[in-house]
Amino acid sequence: MSEPILLTGAGGKVAAMIRPYLLAHFGAVKLTDLRPPEALAPGEEFHQADLTDLDQAHAVAKGVRGIVHLAGLPGENTWDAVLDASMKTTINALEAARLLGIERFVFASSNHVIGFYPRSERLDGNERMLPDSRYAVAKVFGEAALSLYADKYGMRTLSIRIGTAIDRPRNVRELSTFHHPEDIAQLIAIGIEHPDVRNDVVWGISDNADAWWDNGRAEALGYKPRYRAADFADSLPAGTASGDLADLLQGGGLTSLEFDGDPNLWGANALKRD
Ligand SMILES: NC(=O)c1ccc[n+]([C@@H]2O[C@H](COP(=O)([O-])OP(=O)(O)OC[C@H]3O[C@@H](n4cnc5c(N)ncnc54)[C@H](O)[C@@H]3O)[C@@H](O)[C@H]2O)c1
Repeated sequence: MSEPILLTGAGGKVAAMIRPYLLAHFGAVKLTDLRPPEALAPGEEFHQADLTDLDQAHAVAKGVRGIVHLAGLPGENTWDAVLDASMKTTINALEAARLLGIERFVFASSNHVIGFYPRSERLDGNERMLPDSRYAVAKVFGEAALSLYADKYGMRTLSIRIGTAIDRPRNVRELSTFHHPEDIAQLIAIGIEHPDVRNDVVWGISDNADAWWDNGRAEALGYKPRYRAADFADSLPAGTASGDLADLLQGGGLTSLEFDGDPNLWGANALKRD
């Protein structure tokens, strides 16, 4: 049997949703986190590590064929917390991979790297990033770090800009951002195995008719999402078109959180000034 993959942030919510699919696909998965996950299945083993420490990251990454990096703080937090738990952990996981000659690295990035684009715009991933939070700045940093390790050290990297990891959309925004855990696992498998992955960024969404994002690169890499947000649309409560920033912009609530700017000059509007 081939070497396991390493899943960081394995005690967290997204990991709990995707672990069964990763195990079914890869057969062996090494899990790491500050805290142990609930229960281990045959084929999974857990190693506790604090990834803010390079030695611990290096020790836990030994003997794996690729790293799937989920560890971090989801949602907004202080700069100190973001620097440590989201940025330092990413650097240490990448550095451990480089030192150990691990060729594949998949990163749980986020749609919030482009949060300040209006929902009326369709993005292909090549536009300038407009992060909507300190959380999102850590994801911009992570994508840039993966790019560096790909170009400079020949690592094969995939950043997945996950929309909303959930088994069914719960509101109107999630009709656009829904990413079923099985589809997340499919993209991760592409990141670990596809021969054409080099230095790539894809959108983490299922087959969503209302998506704001063109996922052409993922499709070119063979991604065929199994789930469609539209299949759940009927069960959703009616949308609330409040006209608030959070409802106009792709990042939703993280855009309006702490917002103290000029409401006419945010994000993409500001870019259009001459
Ligand atoms: N939930 C979503 O819809 C979504 C969307 C986009 C991106 N993401 C990303 O997916 C990842 C997982 O999200 P989640 O919702 O499962 O978060 P979570 O908080 O449930 O899990 C993250 C895990 O990282 C671990 N961690 C934090 N600091 C660590 C450290 N120093 N060393 C080792 N482990 C550490 C935590 O203990 C936690 O178990 C995050 O990077 C998040 O930003 C999630």
